[in-house]
Amino acid sequence: MHSFFSIFSHIYRESSIFTKIFTALENPKKYTVTAALPYANGPLHLGHLAGAYLPADIYVRYLRLNKREVAFVCGSDEHGAAITIRAKKEGILPQEIVDRYHEINKKAFQEIGIDFSIYDRTSSEEHHKMAQEFFLDLNKKGTFTKETTEQYFDEENNQFLADRYITGECPKCQNPSAYGDQCEKCGSDLSPLDLINPVSAISGNKPVLKETSHWFLPMERHEEWLTSWIQEGTIHGKKLHHPKEWKNQVTGQVMSWINSGLKPRAMTRDLDWGVKVPLENAEGKVLYVWLDAPIGYISATKKWAEKEGENWEDYWKINKETGEAETKLVHFIGKDNIVFHAIIFPILLKQHGEYVLPDNVPANEFLNLEGDKLSTSRNWAVWLHEYLEEFPDKADELRYVLTSILPENKDSEFTWKDYQDRVNNELVAIFGNFVNRVVVLTNKYYEGSVPVAGEVLESDKQIIEEVKETAKKIGESIEAYRFREALSGAMNIARIGNKYLQDSEPWKLIKTDPERVKTIMKIALQISANLAIAFEPFMPKKSAVLKQILALPEAITWSDLGSFSLLQESQTIHKPELLFTKIEDKMVEEQLAKLASSKANNIPAEPIKEEVSFEDFTKLDIRIGTILEAEKVKKTKKLLHLKVDIGSEIRTIVSGIAESYLPEEVVGKQVSVLVNLAPRAIKGIESQGMILMAENAEGKLSFVHPSEDYIKSGNSVS
Ligand code: MF3
Ligand code: ZN
Repeated sequence: MHSFFSIFSHIYRESSIFTKIFTALENPKKYTVTAALPYANGPLHLGHLAGAYLPADIYVRYLRLNKREVAFVCGSDEHGAAITIRAKKEGILPQEIVDRYHEINKKAFQEIGIDFSIYDRTSSEEHHKMAQEFFLDLNKKGTFTKETTEQYFDEENNQFLADRYITGECPKCQNPSAYGDQCEKCGSDLSPLDLINPVSAISGNKPVLKETSHWFLPMERHEEWLTSWIQEGTIHGKKLHHPKEWKNQVTGQVMSWINSGLKPRAMTRDLDWGVKVPLENAEGKVLYVWLDAPIGYISATKKWAEKEGENWEDYWKINKETGEAETKLVHFIGKDNIVFHAIIFPILLKQHGEYVLPDNVPANEFLNLEGDKLSTSRNWAVWLHEYLEEFPDKADELRYVLTSILPENKDSEFTWKDYQDRVNNELVAIFGNFVNRVVVLTNKYYEGSVPVAGEVLESDKQIIEEVKETAKKIGESIEAYRFREALSGAMNIARIGNKYLQDSEPWKLIKTDPERVKTIMKIALQISANLAIAFEPFMPKKSAVLKQILALPEAITWSDLGSFSLLQESQTIHKPELLFTKIEDKMVEEQLAKLASSKANNIPAEPIKEEVSFEDFTKLDIRIGTILEAEKVKKTKKLLHLKVDIGSEIRTIVSGIAESYLPEEVVGKQVSVLVNLAPRAIKGIESQGMILMAENAEGKLSFVHPSEDYIKSGNSVS
């Protein structure tokens, strides 16, 4: 229910402030570029990189090369069920999980060259404070309604089940393992009550319904302005962005949400991990992770700005005096995040009143791997930190290949063969080969000194024109978020250079017309220098090496691209150095074998436990036993009550295998039994030992038993 005051303030905001304050940004003073905060519940893979971080980094490097002021913010998303469920699985605290992956991911980003202004984290005190203030401000403005509803509850764990804590069948596509917030198969947005046959993700139990109160965001109140904002780029007639610049699939997804009717969405949760709801009577409640995480962009900007002596508000708020937005806010994300960045967060920003809205949300589609969907849970991925560990000097090769196949408008696919082809046929054979020839010949003919050119022929002029034209388009493509096209433009400059050398054959001409060769080489050197600039957003490390080889000044920027006086006559360049090396078949084979084995195991590798001594090991008495009788333990799903012959005696054992075996299936089976485990009571039955089991990825258990002959019960296993 909202009060009169909140309705009043809502209307007041709609009518008086917002009609004045927004304007379309032609020449922004600043840029605020965000990349989705990755959950710190696991390592990053190539899909993450291709979805958000690489395009964002290319965009930002380009802006910085143009001397624009940019805050490029990211960090770990450390709240939500993604974290707590992972912690529970590993039997450690959520804080330990986020501490581990925050460091791993921060380092991997650094090594792959994603140059954030700051990589912050949402578990920080400053973030909690800002998220709470933001929530309180919105609450005061009547943004939320407080409702008491029935929600699913896990009685065994004494916990409400929202989001990923509950799974069940998707009502739209019948996927049996849809989550309480979303079906990953068909992409629909769900609420726990939509699920068919819901079960608790913690216990596997059937949940019960129980009342609880939460703060809801009535999104349906915002349909009207959202529609004109998305479709025309205007709010109350004021132009804010150019909708044609937005990707069709982003606008399309947002409109399909709006057209099917927005619904109230709970903005708080009954959990103990997260940002506490800063109100009375909110014991045990935290902010919904999708409320606090985007505010992480703002708290990260604030932290960065304070360190840099800048004002964070310049990067987020409308100028109070002019009423104009002066920063261009761009959110780089994957397509599963569209609704949060193009509907929910904009609602929150607009409700607050002082903030700018995103100028664009250039979401990417998904990257597949070797014919299959990337998946963390199935360990079907190329892990970024592993790639960097194995190939520490090949960061830019990966950036190049991924940029060539970015899923900008539709899903795309990474394969190791394609990686090899692109590195060998493009980076080595075109870019590397051209630069190497130019540098080798300059050293050979002129001892590294840039020659003095003679007459520039019509054919030379054509080449120069072509390079200039191609160069100009690269920036345009980047500004339009078409990074594949931009990269192929940069590679085209190398192609032009390569062809120029191929056609003019200076290595032959040197004997007959050395004066002409000077002109050719000078032009080829200028083309090489242009390559160092053109590739900088895409392959910053290689570009730095090339700049160093050519002895280019540090200060060259994007505005120098297309210039043919980047190198001065008589200046000297350095000795040749190979920019790229060929990828051998062996590497491809090894990577494919690694993937094949992960498919076979299908389980994320668990860290190996602490070492034990031989003496400790021999304390375990494991023997072969034969199951004589089996029956289900009443009122449980998982337990079987067994009688097991261990040679010297018959033991009673309660074993959690009922979801994998029927009682009648196990009678007569030979198994391995830990016979000196201290007895303990399970559901009122004294269990006198433990059956050893192996578990596959789906959680199905199978006995560990003699593989060849029958072994007499009681024989020991060691
Ligand atoms: N952690 C989310 C994900 O990986 C993304 C959060 S983006 C932010 O899908 F806006 F919330 F920060
Ligand atoms: Zn579905």
